[in-house]
Amino acid sequence: MTAQIIDGKAFAAKVRGQVAEHVAQLKGAHGIIPGLAVVLVGEDPASQVYVRSKGKQTTEVGMNSYEHKLPAETGEAELLALIAQLNHDPKVHGILVQLPLPDHMNSDLVINAIDPAKDVDGFHISNVGLLGTGQKSMVPCTPLGCLMMLREHHGSLSGLNAVVVGRSNIVGKPMAQLLLGDSCTVTIAHSRTKDLTEVCRRADILVAAVGRAEMITGDYVKPGATVIDVGINRIERDGKNKLVGDAHFDSCAEVAGAITPVPGGVGPMTIACLLANTLTATCRANG
Ligand code: GUN
Repeated sequence: MTAQIIDGKAFAAKVRGQVAEHVAQLKGAHGIIPGLAVVLVGEDPASQVYVRSKGKQTTEVGMNSYEHKLPAETGEAELLALIAQLNHDPKVHGILVQLPLPDHMNSDLVINAIDPAKDVDGFHISNVGLLGTGQKSMVPCTPLGCLMMLREHHGSLSGLNAVVVGRSNIVGKPMAQLLLGDSCTVTIAHSRTKDLTEVCRRADILVAAVGRAEMITGDYVKPGATVIDVGINRIERDGKNKLVGDAHFDSCAEVAGAITPVPGGVGPMTIACLLANTLTATCRANG
């Protein structure tokens, strides 16, 4: 079998187009321009690339982008003061603090200082609790993007066996909650799971979010299953720098029914969902 490729890049472009249309309507009818503030502390190169890309796509859909770049040695109190200022700024509808933060900062404290209504990452403890109890919340962008691709591909997910490999707060846990919300039978597996290959081979939907390059090979995949690859890993191969996922693409694609590529799968959907969340936050703030 050769898997169908789920084109996240094309889907993300469609979502951005819908967001842009809605932004234009908001501007035309109410004079409201959604604003997204992104805070970057330090010079982590990968974070700098993400932040630049977020800023560019934010302005492309007609929103205002406010970038705050702080030096790595910034004190926690100074960062908290900036967040308080953004919480009170009516032009700012969404706030994202790029992770990871430098070691001297308490990430939980910083994230929980963001107004939950502006928490477009969905990481604030209130949003985590709302999602876990099936209430209206801000939903983390990467799992939301995965869910949208799965719904588009399968239609209903009801009754499907879903295995999420990875238990991070950013991806694994909220992904499991979202799949449960769509009536999947959900297993969260991780590095200590016994018989991981067997567990994964029961999945109709296999989400690879382990953070280890190409760990999920074809033997982990049930024939015809859908593989969603959340990993973004830079590796050296044949003397070249290459971007690969947590799934080994070629071997998985031989067995799976459908698979998201890296790059061009989950990654573009994450930023599209960030823009969609910013629009949602703007609409909720304005009744
Ligand atoms: N760093 C890596 N992924 C993310 C994300 O989704 N949100 C934030 N804020 N930081 C990240």
